[in-house]
Amino acid sequence: MSSVFSPAATGERAAVQTVELAPGYRIPRVIRGGWQLAGDHGPVDRARAVQEIGAFVDAGLNTVDGADIYTGVEALYGEFNAQRRAAGQALLQVHTKFVPDYDDLARVDAAYARRIVQRSLQRLNAERLDLVQFHWWDYRVPGLVQAALALRELQREGLIAHLGGTNFDSAHTLDMLEAGVPLVSMQVQYSLLDRRPAHALAAAGARHGMQLLCYGTLAGGFFSERWLGQPDPGDSLSNRSLIKYRLVIEDFGGWAAFQRLLQALKAIADRHGVRIATVATRWVLDQPGVAAAIVGARYADHLGDTLAVFGLQLDAQDHALLAPLLAAHPGPEGDTYTLERDKTGRHGRIMKYNLNKS
Ligand SMILES: NC(=O)c1ccc[n+]([C@@H]2O[C@H](COP(=O)([O-])OP(=O)(O)OC[C@H]3O[C@@H](n4cnc5c(N)ncnc54)[C@H](OP(=O)(O)O)[C@@H]3O)[C@@H](O)[C@H]2O)c1
Repeated sequence: MSSVFSPAATGERAAVQTVELAPGYRIPRVIRGGWQLAGDHGPVDRARAVQEIGAFVDAGLNTVDGADIYTGVEALYGEFNAQRRAAGQALLQVHTKFVPDYDDLARVDAAYARRIVQRSLQRLNAERLDLVQFHWWDYRVPGLVQAALALRELQREGLIAHLGGTNFDSAHTLDMLEAGVPLVSMQVQYSLLDRRPAHALAAAGARHGMQLLCYGTLAGGFFSERWLGQPDPGDSLSNRSLIKYRLVIEDFGGWAAFQRLLQALKAIADRHGVRIATVATRWVLDQPGVAAAIVGARYADHLGDTLAVFGLQLDAQDHALLAPLLAAHPGPEGDTYTLERDKTGRHGRIMKYNLNKS
């Protein structure tokens, strides 16, 4: 169920759309992503980052994504919330993750889950985690349902408000739901380039009241005027998101096909007086089962274009421009994150698997 609320700072802008992710828990349909604050996307001015989270909150975007494995990010959110608490202001809603190390999977038990959750609580300076999104690197290692049930116990104790998952396919999502893990959300890659969640996961989730939170919506920033008409950067990229989504562009059909898509998005953006990123985000928000898009940001530079998504409605002419391109390029095949689970494959080789050790 979607609705809107009107934060004071939006001025003439359309009101921020919100959605109830779980009974009594409402989030804006754009969540600010936190991976970009973990140091893999260039240096971060910490004081500026903390201050500019305030610009998002003032605009009505009061929910952020983080993870136990995003170095320093939980602590940064904790610092922001400490300032809010001291000022008597409403707190940021923080979605974190539980990503057991690959090398630890066989050892994950209730004590392991408790240790990571307690560390997140401490870093966030919180008594309860708003949403914990569970990830499991390798289905061949047994124990994922038990690990999810361990989180369920921590939820019963009151340490966690809501449970979600990230990067599970439909079958394993259903395994958890049917074992009694009340997942309210699944965080997955979903964009014009990668439509795998539409193959089965969105419908499976809908049957259980589970909604999608989507990353990769902007393909790490490739969906922007900056890349329109530019040559293929190949492997000259240093930002980890761009390296990742350059591979997804290959899965979609290559750089030339991507440029045709960017041109169509530019034409649509110009019709509506917005930017390419705004159109790409709106498209994801309009897909069945999608609760919110997670848009990565270090600072508030793109906030205006992000907020413009709430005033944009794609029409038949826009869809007619996109339809032939999407039909010609169905994108990665199979279920969500299946390609990525091959540790020796193109996607698997660029990932970091043991970030909780530190
Ligand atoms: N669960 C998972 O496995 C997983 C994986 C990846 C990401 N995530 C989550 O999803 C979030 C998003 O990360 P992502 O890697 O998928 O990146 P993304 O959101 O697709 O792209 C983010 C980048 O796009 C650019 N950008 C943002 N808004 C823009 C706008 N309006 N116009 C033009 N450019 C804009 C920014 O680049 P510049 O700052 O360079 O302009 C930003 O760093 C992460 O922070 C994280 O929370 C989760």
